Amino acid sequence: MRNIVLFGPPGAGKGTQSALLVDHFGFVHLSTGDIFRANIKGATELGQLAKSYMDQGKLVPDDVTIRMLEDSANAHPDASGFIFDGFPRTTAQAVALDAFLDEKGQAISGMLALEVPEEELKARLAKRAETSGRADDADPAVIQNRIDVYNAETAPVADHYRGQDKYAGIVGTGTIEDIFGRLKTAIEGLS
Ligand code: AP5
Ligand code: MG
Repeated sequence: MRNIVLFGPPGAGKGTQSALLVDHFGFVHLSTGDIFRANIKGATELGQLAKSYMDQGKLVPDDVTIRMLEDSANAHPDASGFIFDGFPRTTAQAVALDAFLDEKGQAISGMLALEVPEEELKARLAKRAETSGRADDADPAVIQNRIDVYNAETAPVADHYRGQDKYAGIVGTGTIEDIFGRLKTAIEGLS
């Protein structure tokens, strides 16, 4: 069983590539951003809480996020492997994920980090704002805040996996197919 952390800043292509990787490898895709957005749409209490952070481009607190991720993973007891998209986003989340998987006799196989220059991230998200309906795409100041929060709070999570010799940087520019090919090769190389 392979469990992958698909890492990268806002707009790096995590969601786009996850869909292709699910088709190819049969992973269960867990995107904390998607789960929060489904809760906002369903007007749940969790959605209301998450929205107050997401609309500003801030991180939702670790305790609620970790609990939600664990519940979502536990809902797939027969999964043959997970792709984690947008999680872990803090070192505390990474530590919690390791402990959660360890209890099941599992582990993260690798972190694949999509590398995309900031100017391209902003261009992609500004373009997506025309159609996504995502409140956090609509305002360039919120996009900038998401990138700043990523650099300050999330980028250090890479060191957690570097320390376990599980980190691989992936060129995240070029065509969607080319990037998928790089990810596929990297995943096939993981035990
Ligand atoms: P989340 O939903 O995870 O958003 P994000 O990290 O900001 O990333 P995006 O979903 O915007 O980008 P992506 O990397 O998936 O790229 P995509 O494939 O869409 O999180 C949202 C918020 O939820 C956070 O800000 C936070 O508040 C909260 N949250 C979520 N997880 C949390 C956690 N663990 N802890 C605390 N809070 C959390 O691609 C982007 C665009 O580019 C698309 O339009 C796509 O079509 C296009 N594109 C993709 N690939 C290419 C390419 N190769 N060339 C050109 N365009 C491309
Ligand atoms: Mg996404």
